[in-house]
Amino acid sequence: MKPELGVCYYPEHWPEAMWAEDATRMAETGLSWVRIGEFSWSRMEPRPGDLHLDWLDRAIDTLGTAGLKVVLGTPTATPPRWVLDKHPDMLAVDEQGNARKFGSRRHYCFSHQGYIDECVRIARIMGERYGRNPHVAAWQIDNEYGCHDTTISYSPSALQAFRHWLSTQYGTIAALNEAWGNVFWSMEYNSFDQIELPHLTVTDPNPAHVLAFRRFSSDQVVAFNRAQVDVLRSLTDAPLLHNYMGRTLEFDHFEVGADLDIATWDSYPIGFLSDRLEVDEAHKTAFLQQGDPDMQAFHHDLYRAVGRGRWWVMEQQPGPVNWAPYNPAPLPGMVRLWSLEAVAHGAEVVSYFRWRQAPFAQEQMHAGLLTPDNRPAPALIEARQTVDDLTNLGTVQQARAKVAIVFDYASDWAWTTQPQGAGFDYFELVFLTYQALRRAGFSVDFLSTTDIPKSSYAVIFAPGLATVGHELEQKLTAGCDLAILGPRAGAITHDFQIPEQGRPGLSGLDCHVDLVETLPPNVARPVDGGGAAEHWIDRLSGDAPNLLSYADSTAALKGADGIWYLAGSPNKALWDRVVALAAEEAGLTVNAMPVGLRRRETADHEFLINYNAHPVDWNGHAIQGCDVTILKRNPPGKT
Ligand code: GAL
Repeated sequence: MKPELGVCYYPEHWPEAMWAEDATRMAETGLSWVRIGEFSWSRMEPRPGDLHLDWLDRAIDTLGTAGLKVVLGTPTATPPRWVLDKHPDMLAVDEQGNARKFGSRRHYCFSHQGYIDECVRIARIMGERYGRNPHVAAWQIDNEYGCHDTTISYSPSALQAFRHWLSTQYGTIAALNEAWGNVFWSMEYNSFDQIELPHLTVTDPNPAHVLAFRRFSSDQVVAFNRAQVDVLRSLTDAPLLHNYMGRTLEFDHFEVGADLDIATWDSYPIGFLSDRLEVDEAHKTAFLQQGDPDMQAFHHDLYRAVGRGRWWVMEQQPGPVNWAPYNPAPLPGMVRLWSLEAVAHGAEVVSYFRWRQAPFAQEQMHAGLLTPDNRPAPALIEARQTVDDLTNLGTVQQARAKVAIVFDYASDWAWTTQPQGAGFDYFELVFLTYQALRRAGFSVDFLSTTDIPKSSYAVIFAPGLATVGHELEQKLTAGCDLAILGPRAGAITHDFQIPEQGRPGLSGLDCHVDLVETLPPNVARPVDGGGAAEHWIDRLSGDAPNLLSYADSTAALKGADGIWYLAGSPNKALWDRVVALAAEEAGLTVNAMPVGLRRRETADHEFLINYNAHPVDWNGHAIQGCDVTILKRNPPGKT
């Protein structure tokens, strides 16, 4: 696959007289793709049924004639005001019971059938008009599901849909009472109609109730997306996609992704470092204008799995954004670095957000490739350089990594439902695992709990899998030479009860969780030989040998043939030890990477990506600051 570049464009924001020149400039820059349409409903249909699509016809034609491939967005993330007047109860409701008002975007509840019907209607109108248009080469459905905390809604529509969903899941109210343990505190129900949404209770609602609601909320996103997929499939052969976000776990992306052809995501490295990561101030300062060296790669690898190998960056940060607490500019070279890094991880397309900075409304401080007065912004020059890099690079073929991590959205829902220890976070645990592997020079694949190919990896890490069970254990051990579970693995059943066979309930490892402790963030439990566990400790017994121990001789890591259990949440130093032990066991070589330098192997190349502002020497190569060195692998496929 030969990677390409693109840009997000809003023709409705600019006089039509500018479109042709914009299109020519995009093509001259070397961009191949342009995404349009996703927020333009009020211009497509200013009043119910009053369609104005002639401008969109001309915009698509202008862009297509300039040689650009169009990604057409369905505009359902921004229902116009009249849609709300028609469906006054379509608004999402927050946990406090307040309806979220009109005046920005994403003001809809995923469960409102009237709104879903409006979305299907507008998607059908667009599909009928543009489904066979030769310039429309892909479709984006909606925009960033879940953005601005919009997955979970406590609306009357959600309540009605939840009761129905529960009746299909449990069949009878007796089965639900049993599964949830509602005898506790006399919470038993006589009918599904008595069940409320789990908020505004006096103290915590039953965790089984909350987890069911979280599953339901995820299913509603899947169903919402599927409604538009179903209508577009019959009207176009172009691929369907959605643009996911960074560190967003409220719905199961694997399930949404299963209905789509390509996964895309929106990468804002500098914004994410300042508002989406728990890292120390020194790290934030060192990478203030570059972003965290692992955050982008983590999501590239995750969304490669969500897209079953096909993925893009749909929105790439081009300069300062408007939405983080502070918004520094990328250092020179970073826009190109982020683009090449995405390509190294398998992106088919990297598309910048946005073409020209808007002079009005909420995002007027958000940079684009052009300034509002139409002059080139620094990112335009870097995009052009990246085009040259990609021409020199040719095709990039992905190779299966030797190491994989299982990512499970439902585990995050379980943990947030009953944290047990403040500050203990599923994403953070998985991210720490990923960082340790990247520090050791490994390329990493992600896996869902349902798609674990047989005999494919040397090591699979499955940190913090809330529910395991025999089938998943078998898949994990059949997928690799060494599966590493824990901490907090096999801790609950599907209905949030302690499993009958105890925790973690593994058949391949004689180990039992006797006690769970959680620790405050300033306390760590040292492990003999170096490193420590933080936040969460599973106190283990059982005959499996201790591979690492705490000072009191209890196990920090237990292991037998092909399966290990990690009995605490490792800090950085302990993660490095665990990765080194695992590599040794599985016959893999650790390549210790300097701070800020990362390595990505494809079938035919090795990319050395330097997030530091200064040059770094590694393995005989001098990699400039904010730069990427690309080495040919010879012979292909071998390290
Ligand atoms: C994304 C969103 C875009 C734009 C951008 C600003 O979350 O999809 O529409 O708001 O952020 O950084």
